[in-house]
This record gives sequence, C-alpha cells and structure tokens, in this order.
Amino acid sequence: MHALMEAGQQLVDAILSRAHIEPIKAMITSGAPLWYQDDEGMSALHAAAYVENTELVRLLIDEGAIWNAVDNLHNTAGDVALSLNNEDCYTIIRDAGIRSELLLSLLSSRAPPTDSPLSLVLKATDTSAMGSTDAFLSSRLEYTKDEHGQEICLLKVSDEEEVGVMMGWEHGIMKDTVQKLCADHPNRDEGLKVLNVGFGLGIIDSLFQALPTPPATHVIIEPHPDVLKHMREQGWYDKPGVNILEGKWQDHIESEELMAIGGFDVVYTDTFSEDYGALHKFFGHVPDLLAGPESRFSFFNGLGATNALFYDVYTHVSDLHLADVGIDVEWTDVDVFEGEDDRWGKTKEYFAMRLYRLPIGKMRTL
Ligand SMILES: C[S@@+](CC[C@H](N)C(=O)[O-])C[C@H]1O[C@@H](n2cnc3c(N)ncnc32)[C@H](O)[C@@H]1O
Repeated sequence: MHALMEAGQQLVDAILSRAHIEPIKAMITSGAPLWYQDDEGMSALHAAAYVENTELVRLLIDEGAIWNAVDNLHNTAGDVALSLNNEDCYTIIRDAGIRSELLLSLLSSRAPPTDSPLSLVLKATDTSAMGSTDAFLSSRLEYTKDEHGQEICLLKVSDEEEVGVMMGWEHGIMKDTVQKLCADHPNRDEGLKVLNVGFGLGIIDSLFQALPTPPATHVIIEPHPDVLKHMREQGWYDKPGVNILEGKWQDHIESEELMAIGGFDVVYTDTFSEDYGALHKFFGHVPDLLAGPESRFSFFNGLGATNALFYDVYTHVSDLHLADVGIDVEWTDVDVFEGEDDRWGKTKEYFAMRLYRLPIGKMRTL
C-alpha cells in the first residue's frame, strides 16, 4: 500500500512539474494508481487540469481516472478546468461523466440486485429523510415563514435540527417554467389539462391556477400526509377542476384513474428526496401522459446543482434519456442570482449554481 501511495504521489508531482508525457505514461504503465489523492485531495486528473494539459487529461480519462473525485475544497478536476476557462479539458472530463452515468443507468435498468455496489452508486445512499423517499414520507413537516417572510416548509431531522425542504426562492424558476409551458400553448384559451407531481409549497400549482384561463383539469399527485393536510387547509380540495391523487406517482402513474383522465397538455414533476434513477423512470412514462406533439413536459432540474460539473453532467444525461423516449428538450438559462441579496441564506444550499437550466420537452414529430 505504501509503495502504491508513493507511486501515486510521484505521478501527481510529475504532472504538476510539467514532466513530459512519455515518462508519465511509463509511470501509469508500471502501476501508479490514478485513484490516489494527496493530502489536499489532488488526484493525477486534478493535476493535469491545473497544468491545462489536454493530452494528459484525455490519457488519464482513457486509463480510467475517476472523473468525479473531489478534492478537499469539493472541486472536481472538471471544476478546476472550468475555473481556468479551459473548455477542452473540461469537455473531456464532462463527457467521461456523461458516458459513465449513461452506462451505470443502463446497467441498473437491467436490474442489478438492490444491494449491489452498482445500484448503490445510482441510488441515493443517504437513508435520512433528505435522501430517501420512504424516510421523507414518514417524517414530520412544518409550514412556516422565515425571518425574511419567505414561505418555507421545514423537515424535522432530529429534536435539534430542522432542514428547509421547499423554498420560496424557487418562485422565479417556477414562474418561468409555467410561462414556457403554457403561455403560447394552442389550447391555453380553453383551459389546459395539467398534471403536476409533487405539491410542496404549491408554488407551481398556484401559478397554473393564476393563468388567464385556469386549467380545465388540474391533477396533483402528492403522498406526504402533512402536505395533504396543508392542501386541505388551503382549500385545494375544493377548487374547481382540481383533482388530487393521494400517494406516490409510482402508485398512480399506470392507474386506470389517471389513464381515464389522460392526454395532458402540460406535465411537470418535482419530487425532492427522489434520486436520478426515479426521475429517469418517470421520463419513461411521459410519452403516455402527453396528449400529442403540442404537449409539454418539464421537471425541476436541480440534481447535482451543488457543483458545476455534476450539474452539467446530469443536465446532459437527462437530455439524452429524454431523447431516448422520443422527447426533445429545449433548455433555457434562468439567472437565479439576479438582484439577489443574501436573503435566502442557507435555504438555497442545495442549488449553488448561478444559472438554472430550465427544460421544456416536446414529443419529437416524425
Ligand atoms: C420540492 S416539493 C415540490 C415543490 C413544488 N414544485 C412547488 O412549486 O412548491 C416536492 C414534493 O414532492 C412530494 N413527493 C416526494 N416524493 C414523491 C413521489 N414519489 N410522488 C409524488 N410526490 C412526491 C413531496 O411530498 C413534496 O411535496
């Protein structure tokens, strides 16, 4: 082990001192480990990104370097390349991430046993209420306002700790999403047929209801008992055209009830606490939910958004997976920092990007 670590350190040092590629290749061939990270978390791939050596970045990726290893500052080699504005190095690392995620989800769709290391990579390994749907659904939620007047929903993690799970700061994103989903929809004047999965604070549902012509049919799928209670208190069960399906989307998506309503103009989903694997499964149902080529689909594109590289990879992977089921996506950047003072504070920690990449999908016409 000691010899391996030493060889790993020598490789990192050689790259940082801009050694020629041939001796570096020789070190790799003789077993210098690409997984090695020094005391600061620097791997050979981080080092190659620092010295902006495109050829070396490509070589290390081809040799199996770990594209998503983070250093002690939580930066991947891709983040290093991005911070140096080196598009070539960044793209090589990002594309390796996309390939690896696509491969993993392909393999997982062939159903490995749930306890295999593979499914662990894909699934949230976090079994707390923030990372596991079942734990989330059986935890208590509290609707309140924070010191800035922002409506928030808090999840009780322990007696001392509460975490914000739904936040008013997402309002701008939801507003742009509804605009792009509905504003120029050919059926908007007769009232759209809308499906929203995950009520949360009801931001997007309130925006659908506030359209010049409110939806003719507005189905909301929501499983959390405290959210359902809040919806009842807020009168959602009595709104004309609103149909609340209690339970998880997984329980309803192929139900006769939903199929009988069927043919939606607009479908949106944002279920928090679910991982990419669940979103990917949802994508597979979208073509059956949409009425036709004018219908639109969007989802809260927040996965991986604590880190620029991960966010980019997830955005590309979802684009490719939606293309697989016949849905082409147009992406629009929404500036979520615009005019921002620090009023959202910690409530925005799970979305650290300046730009939200808003997806609008439509069925591809042949
Ligand atoms: C972040 S919130 C949605 C916020 C919402 N878009 C808004 O505008 O306020 C996520 C919601 O999804 C719900 N949810 C979680 N898992 C779900 C599932 N499997 N099926 C349907 N809803 C789910 C949660 O209970 C929560 O109400």
